[in-house]
Amino acid sequence: MTRTDDLITRLTRIPVLGRQLRAWRKRRIRRAIAAAGAREAFTHIYRTNYWGGRESASGNGSSLASTELFRAEFAQLLHDRGVRRLFDSPCGDFHWMRLVSTPPGMGYIGADIVTDLIEECAHRFGDERHAFRVIDIIHEDHPTADLWLCRDGLFHFSEADIFATLARFLAAGTPWCLLTTHPYVMVNRDIRTGLYREMNLARPPFNFPEPELYLRDTPQGEKPRLLGLWSAGSVASVLAARAVTP
Ligand SMILES: C[S@@+](CC[C@H](N)C(=O)[O-])C[C@H]1O[C@@H](n2cnc3c(N)ncnc32)[C@H](O)[C@@H]1O
Repeated sequence: MTRTDDLITRLTRIPVLGRQLRAWRKRRIRRAIAAAGAREAFTHIYRTNYWGGRESASGNGSSLASTELFRAEFAQLLHDRGVRRLFDSPCGDFHWMRLVSTPPGMGYIGADIVTDLIEECAHRFGDERHAFRVIDIIHEDHPTADLWLCRDGLFHFSEADIFATLARFLAAGTPWCLLTTHPYVMVNRDIRTGLYREMNLARPPFNFPEPELYLRDTPQGEKPRLLGLWSAGSVASVLAARAVTP
């Protein structure tokens, strides 16, 4: 992040000026998406700390305090289910994930669309059990694992790109996925990939069935949300209803 970006991030925290600056930055992101696509937009977001996180490039929703409850429930799930290989995408900067107590010997693959982020993660955290890869989970193959974690990922994608990503998950042969959902949203709206909206996977056009279980996620300064654990079979039924193929 440049000193100018750092200054702008600080200024966005000032009440009135901050609102105007945030609106200006949002217009910049929209222009970046329209002109260059989602990869460039997310790279810009990372380089400028657009989400304004004090600890994590993924914003304050990925701070240690924000993820405390989720980390505990997620660690329990990994142990209960005996997960041997986890695919975490988008992995962001691995900030909170590095503190999750994982089952002994579990292999971890973190993937993100932003090359800078993955190079940094690989340099700082890569070892024989932790691999980091640049993958665009909408358009590229997913690795096979016991579980795909997609925390705070799909809500940046258009509806068509969400269905495309789910088809990639199915094609990988991974049996389970854990996805962020906002149960209080009654009507889902579509967005251009790269932006953000809250989204309820149980409502149209997704119509997910009841998950196997929910984990609680309580990011500070945001409404609490849930991550649902769905089987590949459930996702297949969702895609079949839409007639989407990998
Ligand atoms: C809000 S962050 C969440 C990161 C992480 N899951 C967490 O909980 O901290 C969203 C991330 O999605 C990544 N991303 C956006 N589009 C992607 C895509 N098509 N494939 C992989 N990662 C993507 C962004 O670069 C960003 O790091």
